[in-house]
Amino acid sequence: MLTISVIKADVGGYVGHSSMHPDILEAGREHLEEAKGKGILIDGYPGHCGDDLFLIMTHERGVGDTEVHTLAWNTFLAGTEVARKLKLYGAGQDLLSEAFSGNIRGMGPGSAEMEIEERPSEPILVFMGDKTSAGGFNLPLYKMFADPFNTAGLVIAEPLHQGFTFEVHDVMHHKKISFHSPEEIYDMLVFLGSPGHYAVKAVYSRRTGEVAAVSSTDKLSLIAGRYVGKDDPTCVVRTQGDFPAVGEALEPFAFPAIVEGWMRGSHQGPWMPCAVRDANPSRFDGPPRIACLGFQVANGTLVGPRDMFDDPGFDEARHQANLIADYFRRHGPWEPHRLPLEEMEYTTMPAVAKKIASRWEPLE
Ligand code: 13P
Ligand code: 13P
Ligand code: MG
Ligand code: MG
Repeated sequence: MLTISVIKADVGGYVGHSSMHPDILEAGREHLEEAKGKGILIDGYPGHCGDDLFLIMTHERGVGDTEVHTLAWNTFLAGTEVARKLKLYGAGQDLLSEAFSGNIRGMGPGSAEMEIEERPSEPILVFMGDKTSAGGFNLPLYKMFADPFNTAGLVIAEPLHQGFTFEVHDVMHHKKISFHSPEEIYDMLVFLGSPGHYAVKAVYSRRTGEVAAVSSTDKLSLIAGRYVGKDDPTCVVRTQGDFPAVGEALEPFAFPAIVEGWMRGSHQGPWMPCAVRDANPSRFDGPPRIACLGFQVANGTLVGPRDMFDDPGFDEARHQANLIADYFRRHGPWEPHRLPLEEMEYTTMPAVAKKIASRWEPLE
């Protein structure tokens, strides 16, 4: 069995929260190469979207492996060192704990891992988000695996026709449930439409039981109890054969859906698909970005990456995202551009409320 692990963190932004300094990527590359040399990994690639570092790794150690998680943690520490030296912004931003206990979960970084039997051809897509939040993949994963208007294969390809099972996590109460598509989609959508509370963790083929997709659902604010940046998420999707075609898995992003995040993690805006070279969110620290690296996995080796949104086919989505961004921005500090009070990552409300508390008078 082969394990694909994507573990990600923001260890410091360049400039501000907009992008990643090349020296951090270099530190990532060095650590992954060293781990390959030691036999911990089969292969590894350091990707980035905005200020987030995504360690894309293959190995045979299974999900939640201590050595692999320790390697990721140490790589983030090395990146943090670089960030400190260059005084990059928010050095070590997502590393919430001083004491690492062998598993990255609950420590700040996000993770998406799957164990697979590598097929004769194994095309995978690694999605990398910035300036948004866990749960952002609910809509795209629903479209990929449950919407026949997105994925023609659900209708016309035998291996997809039985549908998929969605594992949904209640991120507030640490519970999970499985829904079977298509017969339970109406029940499932009651939850998926509230991505701040419920997030798709994994999707499985109903024909074979094989894992089709996994995403990171770690919520930094729930771990830290305060604002520490958005939990910019990742998602791994297997494609072709028993799974959606590459183009069916990318198609949901042709619609720049509204997601939480953007400036100070406290706004709503369009999720713009773009090439990695364009994944440097700078306009009002956004708009939120989604980049995608495609690989052919060959005996555990990551052949690639291909930069999947580097395609004029997504120009119109980018154009629409910019129009939507203009429209939202004109609302300034008003909802629904600004998040509701209880969901903002930044707020001056307690301090302002305290300052003016004595001036409130009862209504007549
Ligand atoms: P090809 O005919 O190029 O292999 O494409 C098949 C397919 O399923 C595309 O979605
Ligand atoms: P990140 O979560 O990408 O660090 O962004 C934080 C922020 O406040 C952007 O304005
Ligand atoms: Mg940041
Ligand atoms: Mg980020």
